[in-house]
Amino acid sequence: RAGLKYFGSATDSPGQRERAPYATAYPQYDAIMWDSGEFGQTTPTNGQKWTFVEPQKGIFNFTEGEIVATKARDAGMYLRCHALVWHSQLAPWVESTTWTPDALRVAIVSHITNVVGHWKGRCYAWDVVNEALNEDGTYRNSVFYQVLGEDYIKLAFETASKIDPSAKLYYNDYNLESPGAKVDGAKRIVKLLQGAGIKIDGVGLQAHLVAESHPTLDQHIEAIHGFASLGVEVALTELDIRLQTPATATNLALQKEAYKNVVGACAQVKGCIGVTIWDFYDPFSWVPSVFSGQGAALLWFDNFTTHPAYDGVVEALKNK
Ligand code: G3I
Repeated sequence: RAGLKYFGSATDSPGQRERAPYATAYPQYDAIMWDSGEFGQTTPTNGQKWTFVEPQKGIFNFTEGEIVATKARDAGMYLRCHALVWHSQLAPWVESTTWTPDALRVAIVSHITNVVGHWKGRCYAWDVVNEALNEDGTYRNSVFYQVLGEDYIKLAFETASKIDPSAKLYYNDYNLESPGAKVDGAKRIVKLLQGAGIKIDGVGLQAHLVAESHPTLDQHIEAIHGFASLGVEVALTELDIRLQTPATATNLALQKEAYKNVVGACAQVKGCIGVTIWDFYDPFSWVPSVFSGQGAALLWFDNFTTHPAYDGVVEALKNK
């Protein structure tokens, strides 16, 4: 796989997918996901998030996350673990509590200690803090930031590093794939941690991109290189490239170019270590439910044939 450690796909746990109207597609889906050799890595799309693993204070449930983690182990795949401290898919009790700073610190430490402890030694990487930034590079006004300011970021990384020293610890966010104010904000977070002597190993560029208005290869290279030059590794952690549906020869060609650019940039920059697509099968993508009129963002169509972008990815990995 070129210079990369892995090319992978996120997948949701069957427990969650069974709620969707696609149950009949599973055997074909599972064969591609686990048995085809297409993917050397996976990430549980949902099952390790706070709302699933600590739905009530101090009550931990690892069932959903374990489904994917166990399959990854059986298939010999790298596991990226996702996501410890995030404002979204938070358990309702975290948002409804009126926190003192000390009490929220205790809750964060307890959450990370239990969750990272549960999967200790099994995660190639953890997304420790997810989406802490606004588009202008300032901090997002989450419950964590409101109560603790940027100290919550330090606390999260410090705690995770103590519990599983073998996991790479990542800051993960979207719109970090080309230079700009948000990239500068993420670099500020890396330097904040490094300056405090706290371990941060990587920056995850989610890479939820748009076929019709995608960055150039050079823009991607500049952004990735900028992070790598801080001494952290980089990964594309949630890659998908949506288009205005229906898919046509024209927008699929743009999508192919976009996939080729971003995967090619990662393969070319030393320090960019892997690529994860955010599921591989269009019917399981989050995109159409959030961006109406958009979709076909992944590499396999509904009928399990591949997008032209699949060949773009292969070309990008070969050109390395
Ligand atoms: O678990 C409930 C279930 O009980 C209920 O019956 C069902 C009915 O809608 O909803 C289920 O929750 C859904 C959850 O996924 C688990 O399946 C939520 O509605 C749905 O909104 C949620 O979407 C996920 C989204 O994160 C939430 O923000 C997507 O699947 C997931 O792909 C997406 O992933 C995020 C990354 O974690 C972070 N970066 C952005 C990315 C895309 O939003």
